[in-house]
Amino acid sequence: MDASTPPGGEYLKLRDVTDAMRKMMAAIDSSNRVLRAITDVRGTALAILAPGGRFLSANSSAAALFGYSIADLIGKSLVDMVRDSDQTRVSEGFSGTASSAFHSFGAVLRGRGGRDTDILLHKQPIADSEGKFSAFLVVFEEPVILQQESLEALSRPQSEFRRLYAHLMIGQEKERKRVSAELHDGLGQALTLIKLMVEDSLLRIERGSVDEAIGLLESTVLRIRETIGEVRHICNELRPRLLDDLGLAPALESLCRQIERASGKVVVIFDCRVREDEVPDGLKADMFRVAQEAMNNVVKHAVATEIRVSLQRVASNILLTIQDNGIGFEHLPLSADDASSSGLGLIGMQERVESNGGSFSLQSSESSGTLVSATWRT
Ligand SMILES: Nc1ncnc2c1ncn2[C@@H]1O[C@H](COP(=O)(O)OP(=O)(O)O)[C@@H](O)[C@H]1O
Ligand SMILES: [Mg+2]
Repeated sequence: MDASTPPGGEYLKLRDVTDAMRKMMAAIDSSNRVLRAITDVRGTALAILAPGGRFLSANSSAAALFGYSIADLIGKSLVDMVRDSDQTRVSEGFSGTASSAFHSFGAVLRGRGGRDTDILLHKQPIADSEGKFSAFLVVFEEPVILQQESLEALSRPQSEFRRLYAHLMIGQEKERKRVSAELHDGLGQALTLIKLMVEDSLLRIERGSVDEAIGLLESTVLRIRETIGEVRHICNELRPRLLDDLGLAPALESLCRQIERASGKVVVIFDCRVREDEVPDGLKADMFRVAQEAMNNVVKHAVATEIRVSLQRVASNILLTIQDNGIGFEHLPLSADDASSSGLGLIGMQERVESNGGSFSLQSSESSGTLVSATWRT
């Protein structure tokens, strides 16, 4: 945060701001599904606003959300940056008399590029040690995932979350069954056959039919070679071997080329701006799988001609994005119902990212294609 002068010419004390932050943390209900689902790929957008709504201070995430540099944002009025029909609400929300308690409300930002963005504002008054109100601490959240659904989602019964959870568990169980079937049917059968072939060869040697035995052993070697290939394939399904052999960036690069070859018509551009040692080992497989599923989705559904994959550092986070220029999808299928009617790809990616403390978001439109973003704190 930039140190700034609040109205009245006094400086806010750090302790006053952290105290407001603590109160705000307690007031925001983290078990609320909408808040959990709303993820901001840039990190938490924070600002301090003067009574009336003028920006006194902002972090880089807030500046990015509004499309300004920090320096340019300071001094601007939030009221001027929201849709006309929201101006009264925002100006009332930040009036000097609205200083009593924590409050969350929604508004539509009029973006600089003419793009409107739904945001949620969480506002906490900052008081000095004598309890005198001086400014507002504000967190801006961008409901990337649930845009139209957010209000409905608030009223959804608890049972739906249980169903979603059960669905994920079923997904995991299905995956285990698939691996087990592959081991049983693929490897198990192959090894049984090899055993029979070797036994048969032994018998022939005992009977003196050495030439026959040699022929049989030669086919056995071929069969073993195939089986090694199958083992590789299964291991690769479980954990991409390229990752261990080459590291994350080359493995992703190779995946991009593979997708390009397989699709025949999509160009994949990979931009990697992190060093191997900046990425925690425990996250690499997740990053690879998210990129893989997102790109497979593009090939399967998007009718795109280009995919841009990027891996970069944003403050202390690592951000992975997969952007296509395809047809998008109107309805964002991130509910249990949708997941059971289509694949588990999207929901599986979200689950994978969030289970390791990351956040996942999805933006899709007919005009701009689909953007899958995953961020992990490092
Ligand atoms: N990049 C994309 N472009 C267009 N549609 C997509 C894209 N990614 C996902 N979808 C849509 O979301 C649905 C769900 O995706 P997913 O959960 O991966 O399941 P599946 O790929 O098995 O259908 C897809 O069926 C498709 O309609
Ligand atoms: Mg899929």
